[in-house]
Amino acid sequence: GPEVARLVASRVLDVPDFPQPGVVFKDLMPLFADGKAFREVTDGIVAYHGRESFDVVVGIEARGFVVAAAVAYAAGVGVVPVRKAGKLPRPAHSVSYALEYGEATLEVHEDAFTAGHRVLVVDDVLATGGTAEATLDLVERAGGTVTGFTVLLELAFLGARKRLAPRPVHALLTV
Ligand code: PRP
Ligand code: HPA
Repeated sequence: GPEVARLVASRVLDVPDFPQPGVVFKDLMPLFADGKAFREVTDGIVAYHGRESFDVVVGIEARGFVVAAAVAYAAGVGVVPVRKAGKLPRPAHSVSYALEYGEATLEVHEDAFTAGHRVLVVDDVLATGGTAEATLDLVERAGGTVTGFTVLLELAFLGARKRLAPRPVHALLTV
């Protein structure tokens, strides 16, 4: 609700020209560093989706891991990491995509999910939606069913919601 949105807004720092000129980087490290705020945000995500609505949480390397581990612990479920190329030790599905700045490949282990596993995907920031689109594809390729996707902060001007439609996007704060 509006209280969690205000909390996120109060813990974001705008960093001009990072990681390259012209990009205003939204830094959520102050939110992660504040124990009370981090717990409220974590509990807010679990409450929004409902503790019984997912069997596992997917987190996207690297900042998404912080959110995913907290949400999974709060809900009493496990975490499946979606990692950048070359990090996973066993056979993996792979998807390449464009970032707001640069390009990347994401991977998930082929045996990460049992069939019908209900998956909540979380990340810190939704920008162009390339990362999210690749991750949702990866989860489905690996046999999971995405039942929710939540980010702490959505940068609406980059149009990710349209790109991801009709898949539902939940953001604690949209700017
Ligand atoms: C950032 C952010 C999201 C993604 C959003 O991660 O944490 O995962 O970019 O951008 P998009 O919507 O345009 O795809 P980044 O790739 O910078 O990785 P990091 O967490 O390892 O810093
Ligand atoms: N902040 C954090 N992560 C990001 C951003 C941002 O502004 N843009 C793309 N990923």
